[in-house]
Amino acid sequence: MSKAVAINGSPRKQKGNTAMLLTPLIQGMKDAGYDVELFYARDLKIKSCNCNNMYCWYKKPGICCLKDDMNLLYPRLREAEILILATPVYIPLPGEMQNIINRLCPLIKPLLETRESRTRARFHEDVKIRKILLVSTGGWWEKGNFGTVVRITEELAEDASVEFAGAVIRPHAFLMKKDGKLTKDGQVVIEAARKAGEELAQNGAISQETFEAISRPLISEEELGRIYNDWIKL
Ligand SMILES: Cc1cc2nc3c(=O)[nH]c(=O)nc-3n(C[C@H](O)[C@H](O)[C@H](O)COP(=O)(O)O)c2cc1C
Repeated sequence: MSKAVAINGSPRKQKGNTAMLLTPLIQGMKDAGYDVELFYARDLKIKSCNCNNMYCWYKKPGICCLKDDMNLLYPRLREAEILILATPVYIPLPGEMQNIINRLCPLIKPLLETRESRTRARFHEDVKIRKILLVSTGGWWEKGNFGTVVRITEELAEDASVEFAGAVIRPHAFLMKKDGKLTKDGQVVIEAARKAGEELAQNGAISQETFEAISRPLISEEELGRIYNDWIKL
């Protein structure tokens, strides 16, 4: 069975907006026959990388000198064909998520190449990851607000010479719910997220139509601005 690993970096874990989008996407992949393992960054005890001599590259290639829950993730990541990074936009990332991204270094082989004037590398041969997908939610109105998070994920994929499978993004995600219940619009987004997972598992790619169904505006920019500014009691 093909395997994927999803890492949800939201500190709000299963109660967060990111989980609201990621859960149906994972379900769609599972329905299409994928084995998807989900981790919450908040539940893992992962230290920040503190090694400036690149131990995992030049002393013991592939081995991290830190001993923590990354040792639980590394074997899973080596076996997964798809890595899903799920995160809220936190100008740009929650700290735990950034720690995990930094700690992916031991999976990358220390043999550098120059492509289009950029220094790149590849995963070690025992790492099966071929695609990296971003799933992200934000509070503001515009998609441009995801630019940095998208770029970080693209950069990671380019550094490791694997495919960036795209960005499943949901701006003003909190509007998918009203009084704790999914709205009609929210249900449409959930169904599109499930379809995204199915498409990724079945066709190896998510269609443009599905990306757009997930990220379409749920309200005008002016209205959202009013909602936010009404919350402020100056
Ligand atoms: C520290 C912090 C920074 C945030 N920065 C942004 C931001 O730059 N852009 C944005 O659209 N939303 C921002 N948000 C809102 C969250 O991205 C948004 O509510 C997201 O859906 C939360 O996902 P979660 O419930 O899974 O944690 C921020 C929230 C926090 C707590």
